Amino acid sequence: MAITLPDEIRTVRLILSQCLANLSVRFLMNRNSYNKIAHLWNVARNGFFGREREYLDAILSVAPIGSTILDLGCGTGRPMAEYIVSRGRCVLGVDQSEEMLRLARQKLPHEQWVLSSIESYEPVEGYHGALLWDSLFHIRRTEHELIVSKVVRGLPSGGRLMLTVGGSARPEFTDFMYGEEFYYDSNTPQETETFLQRLSCRMVIGEYMNLPDGGRDKGRYAIVAEKI
Ligand SMILES: C[S@@+](CC[C@H](N)C(=O)[O-])C[C@H]1O[C@@H](n2cnc3c(N)ncnc32)[C@H](O)[C@@H]1O
Repeated sequence: MAITLPDEIRTVRLILSQCLANLSVRFLMNRNSYNKIAHLWNVARNGFFGREREYLDAILSVAPIGSTILDLGCGTGRPMAEYIVSRGRCVLGVDQSEEMLRLARQKLPHEQWVLSSIESYEPVEGYHGALLWDSLFHIRRTEHELIVSKVVRGLPSGGRLMLTVGGSARPEFTDFMYGEEFYYDSNTPQETETFLQRLSCRMVIGEYMNLPDGGRDKGRYAIVAEKI
């Protein structure tokens, strides 16, 4: 006997399946695109941009020698992980792209590299600093506070995290880099600072790395925050 579902249940099922489809399209788009451009990224991302090194120094200044720094969306490990290791700390790098991680492993074979989405990764206590550098804005903004709350939970009091967000208010969008399409979404700097305060963090640094130009560049804002 055929069972007919009420319209409401069919609608909910349809919405749920569309949400799941959207989620996996977004996730797969960025993963596939980073896998494709990893070798080009590796050549281009060969040094610090702006004051990145000073932000990292602010993280390392409160992380003991020999301690571990969690790097979510670590990419190829250059320049961030390389600098962290050169300063006597260890790196636990997490990334969804096999190719980016392969390059990171090649550079720094003694560090820990984990293939995972940031969304599903459950940080375990034991790190003294954390980075979400140019990676959080590849994830839907509604998930940012939860992700950051999990990272903050694993930090010791006085430990610091650094992250970037988009520098202007705008809806989610996709854009192209090296001919591949990437998904972006972000809370504003103000919204991000507000939820960091809710998570018992104090701002150490909050500044624009580049201002929105009203066109393709939506701006980028750097934050270093400390767990109280
Ligand atoms: C713009 S690159 C930045 C890499 C590195 N943090 C740096 O500063 O050079 C973004 C990185 O985040 C990773 N990423 C983006 N979304 C991710 C997600 N949802 N889960 C895990 N990694 C992600 C990408 O694979 C890529 O390696």
